[in-house]
Amino acid sequence: DPLPKLFQPLKIRNITFKNRLWVSPMCMYSAEDGFVNDFHFMHYGQFAVRGSGGIVIEATGVVPEGRITPNCLGLWKDEQIAGLRHIVDYAHKFGTTIGIQIGHAGRKSSTIPLSQYGKRPTLMAEDSEGGWSEDVYGPSAIAYDDKHWTPKEMTIEQIADVQQAFVDAAVRAEKAGFDFIELHGAHGYLIHQFYSPLSNQRTDKYGGSFENRIRFFVETARKVRQVWPAEKPLLVRVSASDCVEGGWDTEDTVELAKILHNEGVDFIDCSSAGNDPRQKVAYAPGYQVPYAAAVKAAVPGILVGAIGSIDNGRQANEILEQGKADVASAARKYLRDPSFVFEAAKDLGVFVKWNDQYERSRA
Ligand code: FNR
Repeated sequence: DPLPKLFQPLKIRNITFKNRLWVSPMCMYSAEDGFVNDFHFMHYGQFAVRGSGGIVIEATGVVPEGRITPNCLGLWKDEQIAGLRHIVDYAHKFGTTIGIQIGHAGRKSSTIPLSQYGKRPTLMAEDSEGGWSEDVYGPSAIAYDDKHWTPKEMTIEQIADVQQAFVDAAVRAEKAGFDFIELHGAHGYLIHQFYSPLSNQRTDKYGGSFENRIRFFVETARKVRQVWPAEKPLLVRVSASDCVEGGWDTEDTVELAKILHNEGVDFIDCSSAGNDPRQKVAYAPGYQVPYAAAVKAAVPGILVGAIGSIDNGRQANEILEQGKADVASAARKYLRDPSFVFEAAKDLGVFVKWNDQYERSRA
């Protein structure tokens, strides 16, 4: 019998992922000045030694003011490379493929970490606590809601500078040895703010029509692809729908995916929402799989990732066997159980080798 799809290796360009059950990016709000520390080494290391086919390190700011919170990771200076390199080398020791999500939070930047939610009336991180109220910017001067800073509208020069920061971060990611990078184009952060009509009301070439709204994303992907090695995959994560009437939707995502694929983007990770508080998201097991399936069906050759309430091996494998996605990722399940891959293997009757140190754990 052939291996269940979930455990078939996946080769993208010259990089091989040993299975298709990946760790989705998750902010840990544990960095200082953007630097990784022991916590990150332990956190990502645990997935590396426990069979994950691919790890995506959390949203990492390409400039300091592009972080979501003062405690998010950064890749805006060369000094930040070494700590990440240590994690990458460790993952490689265990045959685990590892990448990093680079992004910019735009109007959703300078906020407080999740652990502080509900403890105060707004989510704004004040300057006195490491925030940057004066440097919050986005495509248009529209706040996400009254709990977030009101951004300043970006100038054309700022747009070019941020795109260059993505390029520079990609170069640093290469120096850190990452196997792939993922551009964070989802969850209401800067790239998403540009392509969604709900947050972009610009009247220049970066706003208005579909073509203008996706320009920031497409140009950024093109520029990053130029410096990112041809043998390594370039991934993007999108919010496939704003889940708001009149917002960005699945058909837009399909069109965008075709264009990004032509720019050398190999893989679209399909999430949703995060850009408008009016959003209506119908949470249920595998609730975002239809987005991945729509992109996969419409864009020949592109690889797609499914994410969202995927928490058992049979479910994950079925999504892939049905041809709805090429990879299944999980976030919260991996926090509960870093050995998710081994549980999934057991459920599917697949033999997966543990690392030597833990081999005796086999019941
Ligand atoms: C997230 N999520 C997320 N997504 C992303 O693209 N970049 C990020 O840095 C984060 N950070 C983050 C932190 C934490 C603590 C959680 C729980 C989630 C979203 C995550 O990757 C995933 O898309 C959702 O959690 C849905 O998947 P699960 O949790 O149902 O498997």
